[in-house]
Amino acid sequence: MILNRRKFIKRILFALASIEALFLIKGSVSKVDTSTKKKKLFKAGKVDEFEANKFYSFLTGQFYLKRFEDGGFMALSIKCTHLGCVVNINPKTGGFNCPCHASQFDKLGEVTSAPATRPLDFFPIEIIQGEIFVDTSKAIQRSSFSKSQITYA
Ligand code: FES
Repeated sequence: MILNRRKFIKRILFALASIEALFLIKGSVSKVDTSTKKKKLFKAGKVDEFEANKFYSFLTGQFYLKRFEDGGFMALSIKCTHLGCVVNINPKTGGFNCPCHASQFDKLGEVTSAPATRPLDFFPIEIIQGEIFVDTSKAIQRSSFSKSQITYA
């Protein structure tokens, strides 16, 4: 079959449009993959292993786990919200100090001294059959502390 010039150009344009459509579909599938990111559960230990009013360091998980007096748990990110340095527990205040530019945070992770302007991020906690799991796949940003950030057994 002999193609004339006009038919040949139409077929080329159709092929290019099809290839572009495939890339668009691939792009939208990729977006779906990132939004349905899987949980990354870090097993911290049994509820009974943690004393009240104490922070526990889980540097490989990148969080500090706090058990409050009422039994609730909170997992705070170790990363300073200023520029991401690792904050240290301050035994005097019960909060955190950043060694890089001297930001300070209280025991709830709220800023008490700049340059940081927002509280430490926190991670969701799941308690399954008395075992604490911290979902380290998503650090949650917040503007202030709220009771809803604490997880109870
Ligand atoms: S990175 Fe913490 S104060 Fe700058």
